Amino acid sequence: GAAPRVFSGIQPTGIPHLGNYLGALQSWVKLQDEFSSVLYSIVDLHSITVPQDPRSLRESILDMTACLLACGIDPEKSVLFQQSQVPEHAELGWVLGCLTSMPRIRHLPQWKIKSQTQKSEGSVGLFTYPVLQTADILLYKSTHVPVGDDQLQHLELTQDTARIFNHRYGQFFPIPKTLTTTSKKIHSLRDPSAKMSKSDPQKLATVRLTDSPDEISLKFRKAVTDFTSEVTYDPEGRPGVSNLVAIHSAVTGLTPEDVVEQSRGLETAQYKLVVAEAVIEKLTPIRGEIQRLRADEGFLRVVLNQGAVRAREVAAPVYDAVCRLVGF
Ligand code: ADP
Ligand code: NA
Repeated sequence: GAAPRVFSGIQPTGIPHLGNYLGALQSWVKLQDEFSSVLYSIVDLHSITVPQDPRSLRESILDMTACLLACGIDPEKSVLFQQSQVPEHAELGWVLGCLTSMPRIRHLPQWKIKSQTQKSEGSVGLFTYPVLQTADILLYKSTHVPVGDDQLQHLELTQDTARIFNHRYGQFFPIPKTLTTTSKKIHSLRDPSAKMSKSDPQKLATVRLTDSPDEISLKFRKAVTDFTSEVTYDPEGRPGVSNLVAIHSAVTGLTPEDVVEQSRGLETAQYKLVVAEAVIEKLTPIRGEIQRLRADEGFLRVVLNQGAVRAREVAAPVYDAVCRLVGF
């Protein structure tokens, strides 16, 4: 079999939130010790599938670099890099796009959702984004890809595309496996039916890794729950309070049942403060690290430049081999 290699990416579209941290970044940090080859990419090419202001995009790339390092991504253990600094992503994306049928990507849910939320009809880039994602993964002959549930269909496309390539040109790409996180999806604090998201415009809905303790307290105090004052865990029936339990459980490492047991006798209003405190305790050191790292742009750029060099050491030979197979 192929040498194990992990690849994942995150868009530089704002400061990561508690859902990103608990659902993805925390497991990214663990994977560094479980796999000998790990690559994490700040996928700026993906972020411009919808309009971005150039100045804020440049800031967001550095923000994301500082955040990933502060969460524990260690450039000694993993290759941390900016996607656009490795031109082979776009080049392989072209080749793979020529192996992908239109109907195969038209039905992916992200296109349907995102193209509807855009003012315009949606760009060609937004449409072919899953093809670029496929290239991101295959460019490193990755074998394991940590993804959230929302990305499972994109990973199936990656697997299919690898098979199509191998069938046409000979066995070349390993078929990557998904690594799904065991942690629960974190929901919006204002609308427990929606996931917490970077792009949510609602005030107080999203806890960011750079929020101050006061901001965190306020957001939890204002969290939408229901008219039952007891703390129970019932995601279907009581999504608001169950989201708080899920957050509490994820930041403390306790099971939801243990968290509920511990909180017996508390009213939800008091429980919100308990959860806020647990989140503050978890995020305070990370926030301090983000501030420290973000103040040193020179260092952040060195990390990204070195990451790009190391990523290209893997990517360039793979893409060269693809070119030979294709007939370039
Ligand atoms: P967003 O939707 O906030 O822009 P991304 O799509 O950039 O987040 O997701 C980055 C990673 O964070 C993905 O692995 C995704 O599955 C995970 N993630 C995003 N939102 C949540 C959430 N609310 N709860 C748990 N994990 C999440
Ligand atoms: Na996204």
